Amino acid sequence: MAEPWYKNAVLYCLDVKTFADGNGDGIGDFIGLAAKLDYLAGLNVDCIWLQPFFPSPMRDNGYDITDYYSVDPRLGTLGDFVEFSRRAQENGMRVMIDLVVNHTSIDHPWFQAARSDAQSPYRDYYVWSDEKPADAAEGTVFPGVQDTTWTWDREAKAYYFHRFYDHQAELNITNPAVRREIERITGLWLQLGVTGFRIDALPFLIEFKGTPLEGQGDAHAYLRELRHHVQQLCGDACLMAEANLLPEEVPDYFGDGDKIHMSFNFWVNQHLFLALARKDATPIRRAYEQLPPIPVWCQWNNFIRSHDELDLGRLKKSELEEVFRAFGPDESMQLYGRGIRRRLAPMLGNDRRRLELAHSLMLTLPGTPVLRYGDEIGMGDDLSLPDRESVRTPMQWSDGANGGFSSAAADRLSLPPIAEGEYGYPTVNVEAQRRDPQSLLNWLERALRRRKECPEFGLGECTWIDTGRAEVLAHRCDLDGSTVYAVHNLGARRAKFMLPVGGSRTLQDVLAFHHCEAQEDGSYRIDLEPYGYRWLRSVATG
Ligand code: NOJ
Ligand code: CA
Repeated sequence: MAEPWYKNAVLYCLDVKTFADGNGDGIGDFIGLAAKLDYLAGLNVDCIWLQPFFPSPMRDNGYDITDYYSVDPRLGTLGDFVEFSRRAQENGMRVMIDLVVNHTSIDHPWFQAARSDAQSPYRDYYVWSDEKPADAAEGTVFPGVQDTTWTWDREAKAYYFHRFYDHQAELNITNPAVRREIERITGLWLQLGVTGFRIDALPFLIEFKGTPLEGQGDAHAYLRELRHHVQQLCGDACLMAEANLLPEEVPDYFGDGDKIHMSFNFWVNQHLFLALARKDATPIRRAYEQLPPIPVWCQWNNFIRSHDELDLGRLKKSELEEVFRAFGPDESMQLYGRGIRRRLAPMLGNDRRRLELAHSLMLTLPGTPVLRYGDEIGMGDDLSLPDRESVRTPMQWSDGANGGFSSAAADRLSLPPIAEGEYGYPTVNVEAQRRDPQSLLNWLERALRRRKECPEFGLGECTWIDTGRAEVLAHRCDLDGSTVYAVHNLGARRAKFMLPVGGSRTLQDVLAFHHCEAQEDGSYRIDLEPYGYRWLRSVATG
């Protein structure tokens, strides 16, 4: 049977504003991005996920939208988008976009109409209350920055609900008119060539706990409706959830394989950082054991860092403190009491061995990997910028002016590129790494190519292997009678162990093409350097 494309693809997330400026006005745009498609195809990316590029006052980096049906004029026109999307397809890449319909900006014409007239059909697009609910201080997503979820609107003479900033009013999806809007929005972008959506803040979109809407209808059934709609319009459309789920919540989101297709694996992500901090693989193993199996056509998204803080809110307090100590010891590196606002390379001390290890885990653990722009060259962060902006600096293309991101005068850029120090663009940039065969960029390009030669990792069945060593994570993935193994040493010392493989098989090193020596009992002696890893294909002997 045909396999769904998204179960074995490599995704790459980027923000058009900070990727490449094509017209020299200091802001990244679709023309600039289109010119970089060869780069992305060359890196072996299958699908580009674009962060919001719609008109927006940009008070939450574009996650505060004022028009879902067009492109922010600073980033280009609809025509530029269509040209980009067509060229991406010509280069063999799909495009997914953010679907941010949990909330709109309060500048959106819908909210403006809703607040100015209680009789307006738009009033019921949002969630209102005449009284301030007693628990208004609870449930805010940005503690310490936003201290209430209900804000008084003088014009409306009522409180409106918002999980995020007070400029992001929650939409009411129990209103059929809002659902129709979402159908039109997804319909437009599917027609313009996208293959799917990353659904922003999915749990909040469908849950109204503590609001006057609580208990109205079966919120989860909406996911089936949305799935049906997108799939009718585009057979291979894919819904990818941003949902930081507890294991027990997972079944409700995947349903019987008839709700979302994929979901970011926040549970494993947080335990992966705990494992890296402890130099012990046990938290990863345990995290997977806690997760329920998901339907066969569904998939997890593996990621290391996103455009937000590294959210560690699901860990126990003592575990959170361990990760803080290892990767974000200074208070300036922490955010919302639960997260770290640093990029991967600085967190891992720019240690190439650990950077490869983290990427190798993302590529081989069961799921579809999602890379973030800049991580392929080991970009750093700028902690002098506020909140999550620290990890959103422009892509570093070269050692030229503005790191090759833009030809504008430096003071016209919306965010400054990192110019100095270990991670400054004179040192860390695409051009230099392309010239160096040993660079992280060239390593990753090769690793992605090899990953595609091993569809077992994306599509196969995963089994954990006990090696008797806590610092070693070993697993095998089986698909239609073929098998690959991955072994990772999270420890800072060499790890020697036996890998049970079974007789009459030889192991071939996928990344280095070494042959491994079999023992008489059908096991293999593996000797991993500190933070070492191997991908091994099992082939018949003889
Ligand atoms: C999740 C996004 O990843 C984050 O950047 C944003 O602030 C919130 N959703 C609100 O849209
Ligand atoms: Ca521009």
